Parts: sequence; structure tokens; C-alpha cells
Amino acid sequence: MSAQSGGPLRFGIIGTGGMGAAHAREIAARDDAEVVAACDINQAAIDRFLERVPTLKQRDIARFTDVAALAGSGLCDAVVIATPHTQHDEHIRLCLDAGLHVLCEKPMATTAAGARASIAAAERNGKVLAIAYQRHGTPLYRRAHEVVQSGEIGDIRLVTVLIAQDCLDIFSDPTRTWRADPTMSGGGHFMDTGSHINDMMLFVSGLAPEQVFANFDNYGTLVDVITALSIRFTNGACGTFAATSLSHEPWREEFSFYGSDGVLNIRDGKVTLHKKGHDTRFLRGSGRESRPVANFIQAIKGEIPEPQAGPVYGLRVAQITEAAYKSARSGQPERVG
Ligand SMILES: NC(=O)c1ccc[n+]([C@@H]2O[C@H](COP(=O)([O-])OP(=O)(O)OC[C@H]3O[C@@H](n4cnc5c(N)ncnc54)[C@H](O)[C@@H]3O)[C@@H](O)[C@H]2O)c1
Repeated sequence: MSAQSGGPLRFGIIGTGGMGAAHAREIAARDDAEVVAACDINQAAIDRFLERVPTLKQRDIARFTDVAALAGSGLCDAVVIATPHTQHDEHIRLCLDAGLHVLCEKPMATTAAGARASIAAAERNGKVLAIAYQRHGTPLYRRAHEVVQSGEIGDIRLVTVLIAQDCLDIFSDPTRTWRADPTMSGGGHFMDTGSHINDMMLFVSGLAPEQVFANFDNYGTLVDVITALSIRFTNGACGTFAATSLSHEPWREEFSFYGSDGVLNIRDGKVTLHKKGHDTRFLRGSGRESRPVANFIQAIKGEIPEPQAGPVYGLRVAQITEAAYKSARSGQPERVG
């Protein structure tokens, strides 16, 4: 039964690795959606996917090795794209132009032009395009965004951001993983986890990047694994972004937003607000987490006006990442495209 006839939304999963399986499990657990097709260039990956999502193993789902074939099959109403980064914008457009709604994993695109073309395809086809930036749906980051956007800390003049992880191994060997191959990944740690951190820096602050100066260290790999970025935003505010995959702590994720009237910090899963002459306030998020799949389905059904992480966030991140890699090559500050 199709979604048009009142049945569940029919999903195809494109890229059936770790994240494809994670999203498929959430879809398969719902009454209003089902996974009907899987696409991967590697048949063994589809076999593993069916093992990882056990409820699908009993079903007769269609298997594809070519994205265009799945998109044109008429079997799906929507897709989840979880392929390597440099393929995302092409896969997005193929699916939107075939009349499908698209939830794409981060980053939406590795270039600003690719991001803009995907936004245009969503508008042209009147379909939902959402990015699986899960932090947009977490109460903590939503609260930080609301407080900053309410004007409580005034005009933001400085943003500092750090992401430190112990994950060098996933960028070390291109024969083992596409993440270590820049033609597939588009970049290393900055393009990968850095995509989430760039996105949150922009989502919470509401700022748009204008110019970027970047230093990257590949540490003997083919991709960046250590990053130091200096950013100027369109309102004249400054930003610094530091990232390392070569940390001895498992995970550190920190943001500070310095405004004319206060400072908001996000550290170790806590949001604090400091204002001169006032006690430090610990802010709690309220409400439930809204997961990317659930939120995407709400947007398709028209229950919400737009997805929580719409394509403009994908564009902003693509602008910053593209300018950063350009700056690292030129040795000069580069304006975003
Ligand atoms: N939101 C998050 O927190 C989060 C976490 C991990 C990964 N991700 C993102 O999810 C995406 C996938 O990452 P992963 O860890 O699942 O990778 P993965 O290597 O586990 O899976 C990727 C799959 O894509 C397949 N593939 C490659 N080219 C293809 C093509 N042209 N057509 C169809 N299939 C193709 C590969 O064979 C592989 O099975 C990436 O964009 C990554 O950044 C997001």
C-alpha cells in the first residue's frame, strides 16, 4: 500500500552502513512508515544491513545497487541518504527530481554550489529536504538557541568552539574506510564531526559566516585531522573553531557565545548563562527529544511547517567548510561562496 492511498510512508535506504541501519531501525519501529527498499553499491553491505535491522529480514524488501534505479522505481515515497559525503548532493537531487522526500545525513553537500542546487531541487519539486543533524532536536541545544535568539545575551561578538575526540584511526587508512579518502569524504575530522559543530555554532548563534582563515594538520594522513579556524561573521563578530581527532579524552564538545549583555556556554552537556551582577544560571532543556526520522515524517505529513534541520543549515555548513579548505590551500583568508 502506498502513502497516497493512506498506507504507511514507503522508505528507501540509500547507503546501508552504520547510519543507514540506525535510521532504518527507527522507521521500522513506526506504524506510519516502513522500509521497502535498500540501495548500496556493495551487496554484502545490504546483507549486513538486513542482519542489523532484524524486522526487515523477514520482509521482502527490494534491493538496488544504483541510486537512480531506486529513485525511479516507484516503490518509495521518501529516502534516507547515508552514503559517503561527496556523493550526497548528487543523490539528493536524483531523488528529489524523482518526486521523493529526502532525509540526508550530514554534511548535505561539500560545496556551497552543491547545497544551493539541492535547495533549488527541493523547491522545484515541492518535496521535503531535511538534514539528519540530530542536535537540532535535543532539548539542550534547542534551549541554547532560544535563549540566544531571544536577545538575552545581546549582540554576539565572539564565538569559541572546540571538538576533541579520540578517533584518529578512522581517518588513517583509505584502504579500510572511505573517511580516510578525500575523494569520498571531502575532508577529514572537520568535514565529519566538524559538520555537527559548525552547524550548532551557526544554529545557536544565528550568525552567518563571511570569511574564514584555516590551518589544518593532516598528521601524515590524506585528510585533515586537526583544525584551527578563524571566522568572521557577516555582522562583524569573530569566531574560533578548534578540532582534533587526536585527543586522549573520548569526547569534548564546547561552545561559548560572548554577547554584549552576557555569555552562554555549552559544556559537558550543560548550558550556563552568565550576566554581570547576576548568579550563574544553569539552563535546562524542556520537552522531549525530536529525532531526525520522526521530525522528517512530521514535515512530510504537514504536521509541522518545516523540518527542524532544513537545507539552509546544510548550505551554511557547506559555505564554511568549502571556504576553510580553500583557505588552507591558498594560505589566505577566503570569503564564503
Ligand atoms: N548523524 C550522526 O551522528 C552520524 C554518525 C555517523 C555517520 N554519519 C553520516 O552518515 C553517513 C554514512 O556514514 P556511515 O558511518 O553509515 O558509513 P558506512 O561506511 O557505514 O556506510 C556507507 C555505505 O554507503 C555505501 N555506498 C557508497 N557509495 C554508494 C553509492 N554510490 N550508492 C549506494 N551506496 C553507496 C557503502 O557501500 C556503505 O555501505 C555519512 O554522511 C556520515 O557522516 C552521521
